[in-house]
Amino acid sequence: MMMHFKQFPISVYDFMNHALYDNEHGYYMKKVPMGERTADFITAPELSPLFSEVIAFWILGRIFEHSGKVNILELGPGKGTMAKDVLKTIKKMSPSHFENIKYNLLEISPTLKQTQANKLAEFNNVNWIEHITDIRSEDLTIVLANEFFDALPARQYAKKDGQYYERLINDKFEFILAEKPTFIGKSYVEDIVELYPDMPEILQDLKLLNAKLLVIDYGDLGTSDTLQAIKNHQKVGIFEDISNSDLTTQVDFRQIIKPFDGYAEINISNMNDFLAANGLLVRAEQLLENATAEEKDYINYVLKKLLSEEEMGKIFKVLEINPHE
Ligand SMILES: C[S@@+](CC[C@H](N)C(=O)[O-])C[C@H]1O[C@@H](n2cnc3c(N)ncnc32)[C@H](O)[C@@H]1O
Repeated sequence: MMMHFKQFPISVYDFMNHALYDNEHGYYMKKVPMGERTADFITAPELSPLFSEVIAFWILGRIFEHSGKVNILELGPGKGTMAKDVLKTIKKMSPSHFENIKYNLLEISPTLKQTQANKLAEFNNVNWIEHITDIRSEDLTIVLANEFFDALPARQYAKKDGQYYERLINDKFEFILAEKPTFIGKSYVEDIVELYPDMPEILQDLKLLNAKLLVIDYGDLGTSDTLQAIKNHQKVGIFEDISNSDLTTQVDFRQIIKPFDGYAEINISNMNDFLAANGLLVRAEQLLENATAEEKDYINYVLKKLLSEEEMGKIFKVLEINPHE
């Protein structure tokens, strides 16, 4: 299917928005293949409940000594799988903490909202919000974002003669540079910088929540030209099959951290270190004890996928933000 734009050149931001947005359903999440557990591009919560169990252990570690109400907010919850497994785990491990939890979901896609509502029907402590600012509460708040920020559309700027020019796409679907430079606030070491226009407002709202944040995504402290298209689990040309490929960028974690600098304790780690430090292997050992041969194979496959540096272990980072008291 060809894309139609009224006017060229277009920005990468408009291009990504167009490719990500489906008029009928809103945001279309192409990344999670339906029912295909062993697909190449699958998010960690869809791979196995083990991942979400570790997230639940992390949450319990943050609220263990807290006897009051707790708000959890999940950004971009996809199919609701992580929400379900986190809630199930907390309920099992600490019923008293579970009683105090309200689990809020912020989702842009009406179709995925419905999927989430079906999946979470057994819980009466879940709630969908329209804006981060809808959470107005003095209660302890925890924010979870797994593969949320990578889905935000980016603008690209290329450095030329010490100035930044926006990268645009012409009517032949080739990259060109804008005629005039744009002032992007500071100079970066990278020749191509990706900035996310929707990010500053989201971060500002999150900062006002004074919440403990857990952000998991693929990216690094500094990224360059990372816009990519994936179709049928293969990297394809960005313009090859626009409507059927999944367009994402790797997250530049510097941009997420920036507003919290000085206001919070900030820790960033590779996903394999985070998962190991928060109980993944202990939990896997328990499961392996009573598993059938087939289940053992799957648990080992999941461990490799989550921990190996060639798979998700290193390219995915975990950012923990803990506001100063
Ligand atoms: C790549 S999916 C990740 C889904 C899920 N967290 C997981 O790990 O399986 C991105 C999610 O973010 C949602 N999303 C994208 N942009 C959003 C926005 N601006 N506000 C709220 N949700 C958004 C998508 O609809 C989708 O649920």
